Amino acid sequence: MGYLSTDKKKITANIFLQMKAAGEKIAQMTAYDYTTAKILDQAGIDSILIGDSASNVMAGNEDTLPITLEQIIYHARSVARACSHCLVVCDMPFGSYQVSKEEAIRNAIRIMKESGADALKLEGGVEIADTIKGIINAGIPVVGHLGLTPQSIHKFGGYGLRAKESSEAEKLIQDALALDTAGVFAITLEKVPAELASRVTKMVKAATIGIGAGSGTDGQVLVYADALGMTQDFKPKFLRYFADVKTCMTNGVQDYVKSVKDSTFPNESESY
Ligand code: KIV
Repeated sequence: MGYLSTDKKKITANIFLQMKAAGEKIAQMTAYDYTTAKILDQAGIDSILIGDSASNVMAGNEDTLPITLEQIIYHARSVARACSHCLVVCDMPFGSYQVSKEEAIRNAIRIMKESGADALKLEGGVEIADTIKGIINAGIPVVGHLGLTPQSIHKFGGYGLRAKESSEAEKLIQDALALDTAGVFAITLEKVPAELASRVTKMVKAATIGIGAGSGTDGQVLVYADALGMTQDFKPKFLRYFADVKTCMTNGVQDYVKSVKDSTFPNESESY
């Protein structure tokens, strides 16, 4: 059986909606550099997210807040250059869309112009729905992000499960409906109960992409370094390792060091 995602040359926001309608799950992963993005794109990933998690994964920061507009554009441009098939979504960094609608639209246009990304992702619900509408009116496809929103980590005080209580669950539903009305084509649902994520998925036109949100969403997203077993000191319940790249790289580096030390690298055929 052919998948919509493999039938078409380039995945677009509209194809996300067709995949939701057809019940075809959407597989998204983060990437932040050309080489990794090329492997993901050629392996058949539906979408790459240049997440502001680059702040943690690439730069070693404690949270996502420090990453700048210039830095995310650099990462997104590197990824977009590598991708011919998947939909490239770029996070708007903390501080680039919260001050005013006008500044948000200006920064959104700048990211699109300078990076070559296909779409942008913003965190928040009702309070940024009007800003999102403005960005969409400028011709830019937008993904919303609800539940655990890491840019607000200092407000929430931790990375625990969100929307456990019925009042927070109701607020999340209202936020999802506001984003849907604003015209987002997808909504990331991070670390919320599976039952709530399934309920929201049925209520909205947008495709829902879950991370720690159970199997009832229209798709899944994981940080590539976590999913491929590079960052093995981080193992939340929702994470599955799909490879053991840390061990593979460690073995390769140890073999290289040994080969240099014992002068077996380079050999004659590797020399000019
Ligand atoms: O920045 C990121 O990697 C994200 C995903 C966790 C959804 O927003």
